[in-house]
Amino acid sequence: MNVLLTGGTGYIGSHTALVLSQFGHQVTLFDNLSNSKKSVVARIENIIGRSCSFVEGDVCDTALLTATLAEYSIDAVVHFAGLKAVGESSENPIDYYFNNVQGSISLIKAMETQGIRTMVFSSSATVYGSPQQLPLKEEHPTDPANPYGRSKLHIEEMLNDLAQSNQDWRVVCLRYFNPVGAHDSGLIGEQPQGTPNNLMPLITQVAVGQRSELRVFGNDYPTGDGTGVRDYIHVMDLADGHAAALEFLKESSGWHAINLGTGFGHSVLEVIQAFKTVNGCEVPYRFAPRRIGDVPEYYADPGKAGKLLNWSAKRGLDDMCISALKYQNLVEKAS
Ligand code: NAD
Ligand code: UD1
Repeated sequence: MNVLLTGGTGYIGSHTALVLSQFGHQVTLFDNLSNSKKSVVARIENIIGRSCSFVEGDVCDTALLTATLAEYSIDAVVHFAGLKAVGESSENPIDYYFNNVQGSISLIKAMETQGIRTMVFSSSATVYGSPQQLPLKEEHPTDPANPYGRSKLHIEEMLNDLAQSNQDWRVVCLRYFNPVGAHDSGLIGEQPQGTPNNLMPLITQVAVGQRSELRVFGNDYPTGDGTGVRDYIHVMDLADGHAAALEFLKESSGWHAINLGTGFGHSVLEVIQAFKTVNGCEVPYRFAPRRIGDVPEYYADPGKAGKLLNWSAKRGLDDMCISALKYQNLVEKAS
């Protein structure tokens, strides 16, 4: 298939581009480079051993999207493009609704114009809000706690309405848990701009001496060791999930929300310990107060992904830690 990846030069998009290419799909990356670099395209080409099309543009530009869908004879779209910083979304909510919700409307309009009605959408476990039951199943009530999460839920609901209005639409909303790690080559990975918010990029920056220590937010949660527990998923497993979703949509119409997680939670201290052991390095840390908005624990029930997509996560925490540091070392060398 010819697949358009909006946000294709970003962290998850670039890994998915690799997997889809290796699966035999022809990928076209569409990105405004607001949170990624064009050099990612050459790195993807280096890994897959062939060229990969790139269009620089904004998903809010419906005309450019329409022309791109036509030029590259696109059959399906994987929609990653969007803003994703939770804290920033509370400071600038309208930027989040404009970029994420309006950007998705623009994409849908372009797809309708071209008669393309297959989409895999990057959603997030953040749509569930504070868990009432664990593991989180797709039927769990949705109640996102911030504008970022609400923008994701609005898009999911919009896509659901669309699929109900027209039987030709085929949509999978993938609810990612906590993606970490990088491709084995260490050539592509997560490169946050400014101070990272998420745990793994902070650990790798501490490990290479870019930061003196990690702050562990809270050690009095009702979890095994008192620190927060999350379902960390290797980004290559996540990427595989997109290939599986596209296969599923060949045979299935309608709207589907599906968790992508491992089904296992790890505490912050467990992640630090695994990282130190597999990489043979130190990660100095100190305990700090709980971070506002954090929940003690969440992890997925990945059963629906197993059943519908025939997908399950294959890689463990050790692989996540090794590949994350390998990529961080490459970033260090390049800068
Ligand atoms: P990322 O920032 O690395 O990638 C997003 C890409 O979209 C970037 O390359 C950025 O330049 C591009 N982009 C942003 N706005 C755009 C626009 N208006 N037009 C065109 N391109 C635009 O983020 P990521 O981690 O790869 O996340 C991809 C998607 O997955 C996002 O929608 C995010 O909300 C979602 N998600 C991410 C996580 C996570 O932890 N990384 C978790 C759950 C969901
Ligand atoms: C955050 C987002 C969530 C998003 C997810 C993507 C919030 C409230 N939620 O989730 O919407 O989908 O990222 O991966 O921001 N931690 C520390 N020290 C740090 C950083 C983090 O101890 O410096 C802890 C956190 O308290 C948490 C765990 O590490 O227990 C994971 O944090 P993080 O990587 O930020 O992810 P989430 O909070 O799960």
